[in-house]
Amino acid sequence: MKVSEALERRHSTRVFIDRPVDAALLRDLLTRAARAPSSGNLQPWRLYVLQGATLGAFREHFAERLARDAEQDPREYAVYPEPIFEPYRSHRYQVGEDMYQLLGIAREDKAARRAWFARNFRFFDAPCAVFFFVDRRMGPGQWADLGMYQQSLMLLLKEYGLDSCPQACWARYQLTVRNWLQVPDELVLHCGLAIGYADPQAPVNGLVSERMPLDAFCTFVER
Ligand SMILES: Cc1cc2nc3c(=O)[nH]c(=O)nc-3n(C[C@H](O)[C@H](O)[C@H](O)COP(=O)(O)O)c2cc1C
Repeated sequence: MKVSEALERRHSTRVFIDRPVDAALLRDLLTRAARAPSSGNLQPWRLYVLQGATLGAFREHFAERLARDAEQDPREYAVYPEPIFEPYRSHRYQVGEDMYQLLGIAREDKAARRAWFARNFRFFDAPCAVFFFVDRRMGPGQWADLGMYQQSLMLLLKEYGLDSCPQACWARYQLTVRNWLQVPDELVLHCGLAIGYADPQAPVNGLVSERMPLDAFCTFVER
């Protein structure tokens, strides 16, 4: 598969079939994604990977945590500016509406929307999960480097027939995640990534999110 095809065909996948990810393949792709560039070659990405029984145990622990306590954990970073503003607000609104339309869940049906969103916290039942961290002493440059690793990985996954969904929602429960994983204090959780094989029957997996036209985000400078 060409890079251009992988870019075109990667979409966030939110329903997976019950098929495990080969452990050797996963290791290989996680290794190769580290060809991503980083400023000064710091390679600031730090990953925790869960599969099989371990992922099952994590899900169980997490479900108990949610059932016990409705409170989220203290945030370590704001996923979005608060309050979010235009034009970003509209982009976010639109993708949400497009997704719920494919799911057949109306705007007024808050309970159904909440129930759907809660599937995030099962990694959408994917067979494999990654948590991405970065050292808290690092700045925006290294967070951007982490993003380069993440996109490289998602494209490689696509090339090998695998699908994924990045998930910043985990940042709401960063303490629960870090305690369970026994992550060193210096690491900050950025997001999770659900990995597996997409269910082609699930309409929501057909969501093709909109993109702005080039001129809305790119200025060709001429003087
Ligand atoms: C860092 C990051 C965090 C995200 N967090 C979530 C999430 O918590 N739950 C979710 O369903 N999608 C999440 N997404 C997926 C975005 O909604 C998706 O990337 C965006 O709408 C563009 O759609 P596409 O990935 O299908 O191209 C996240 C994406 C990124 C890059």
